[in-house]
Amino acid sequence: MGARRVLSLLFLLLLGTPSLASEQNLSCHKGIWMSVEKDPRRTFNWTTEKVETCDSGSSCQESLLMINAGAETAVLGTKGCVTDGTQAVTYVQHSPPPGIITVSYSTYCEESLCNSRENLMELWREEETQGTQEAPSMTPYLHCPTCVALGTCLNSPSLPCPNDTVQCYQGRLQITGGGINSFLEVKGCTSITGCRLMSGIFTVGPMWVEEICPYKSLLQPRKTESGAAWLPVSVWRIELVLLLLLH
Ligand SMILES: *[C@@H]1O[C@H](CO)[C@@H](O)[C@H](O)[C@H]1NC(C)=O
Ligand SMILES: *[C@@H]1O[C@H](CO)[C@@H](O)[C@H](O)[C@H]1NC(C)=O
Ligand SMILES: *[C@@H]1O[C@H](CO)[C@@H](O)[C@H](O)[C@H]1NC(C)=O
Repeated sequence: MGARRVLSLLFLLLLGTPSLASEQNLSCHKGIWMSVEKDPRRTFNWTTEKVETCDSGSSCQESLLMINAGAETAVLGTKGCVTDGTQAVTYVQHSPPPGIITVSYSTYCEESLCNSRENLMELWREEETQGTQEAPSMTPYLHCPTCVALGTCLNSPSLPCPNDTVQCYQGRLQITGGGINSFLEVKGCTSITGCRLMSGIFTVGPMWVEEICPYKSLLQPRKTESGAAWLPVSVWRIELVLLLLLH
């Protein structure tokens, strides 16, 4: 699918008229997920038995933040009702391989139980996440402490970096919203510079990410009012892909 078609489809969804769903109370799957996985495509189970009834005018949402460093991937997810936001599907590659990979995904939808994605098969895409797993040939002189953990890393082995990585990243992400209030520690080789793992996009559906590095960041966080639909134009290397959820 060409980029142009993707963008126009996204545009269509953003302009979607409010559906009849707002006249009766919507039901949404509800839950939060926080884990560190070796193979999230295979092991992450995004199903829940819980359902909540929303106030009128709400949408359902399902949102994920995924960060890979070395052999492990942190996955933070939330599902539930949201009172603001427009129907949209958003996929952002915040930091690309080689090195630490950060990807987020969010859907806002307006039919009962529409936030029903069960796994990461299409979201944690192999072609975008193989970089660090293989580490085919190494930059001989760059080694970085590498880890990703909920809270604080217990150990961070110094690992050789893949070609084309430029620095050792060390940062802490505070994730709040959508029922989540958690810290992530992230260290590893990266191809980005500075404290920009999120590349300036700090909302993931109802989640808000604050990125803190040991040194001062030049970038001021910006918060958007309607979580799902902010499309930055000046941020370096953003991939925004519409994922069609046809079953
Ligand atoms: C995910 O969990 C649900 C409920 O616990 C279970 O029914 C389902 O089979 C699981 N799916 C996978 C792919 O493991
Ligand atoms: C539907 O939402 C309204 C608030 O918008 C609430 O007062 C009402 O109790 C809800 N109905 C159900 C069945 O939950
Ligand atoms: C990685 O860098 C080394 C040394 O500069 C080079 O020999 C090798 O071809 C590079 N590998 C790839 C996959 O680019």
